[in-house]
Amino acid sequence: MHSRTKEELLEQIKRDILKDRVCPELAKNATQLVFGDGDINSDIVFIGEAPGKREDETGLPFVGAAGKFLDEMLKTIGLKRSDVYITNIVKYRPPNNRDPLPEEKKDFLPYLQRQLEVIRPKVVIALGRHAASCFHPGLSISSEHGRAKRLTLAFSGDNLSIVFLPLFHPAAALYNGSMRQTLIDDFTRIPAIIKAAETSQNYKQLTLKQI
Ligand code: URA
Repeated sequence: MHSRTKEELLEQIKRDILKDRVCPELAKNATQLVFGDGDINSDIVFIGEAPGKREDETGLPFVGAAGKFLDEMLKTIGLKRSDVYITNIVKYRPPNNRDPLPEEKKDFLPYLQRQLEVIRPKVVIALGRHAASCFHPGLSISSEHGRAKRLTLAFSGDNLSIVFLPLFHPAAALYNGSMRQTLIDDFTRIPAIIKAAETSQNYKQLTLKQI
C-alpha cells in the first residue's frame, strides 16, 4: 500500500468537512468551502478568521482587501503568498461577514488541527483574535500581538513543536492608522522568528523585541 501524499491527505480533510456536514447553516449561506492555499510544504502557515465576500466567490483565502494588504506585507519580508500556506479557522463565509461564533470555531478546529498535522509547519502565525484564541484560549491580542511563543501541538500521532505568533488581523488594521503601523512593524520581525524557529529548540518564550 502506498502512503498517501500530503496533497491526498489534505484533499481527504476537505472531503471530510463536506461529508461531516460541518456548520450546515454557514454552508447553506456560503457559495463554497474555502479550504486553504499556498505551499503545503512551507514552514510557515498563516491562519485567518473566516472567508469574506471575495474569498467566498473565489474559493481562496485572503484574496480581498485584507489579502492584498497581507501580500504587501509578505513582500516587505521577501515572501510571496505562494511561499507560505494560508487558511482560516472557519472555512465558510459567515453571513454579512459577522464574527464567527464560538461553536463554529470549535466545530472547525479538528480540521485545522489535521491540516497542521499534515503540513507540519515550524511557524504558525495567527491573524487576529479568532485564530489566536484557538491556540491560546483567552489570549489578549492587544497585549500579546508580536510576541512569539513555542507551543507543542498534540496530534494523534507524534506531537509537533511550533513557534506561534499572534498578530493583528489585516482587515482590522487596514483602516486603523496605529494598528496598521503596529502590524507592519510586527511583520518586519517575522524573518528573525523563522530563523529562530529553525535553529533554536530550547527557548520557552521568545519575544520579537528580544531577537
Ligand atoms: N479573508 C480571509 O480569508 N480570512 C480572513 O480572515 C479575512 C479575509
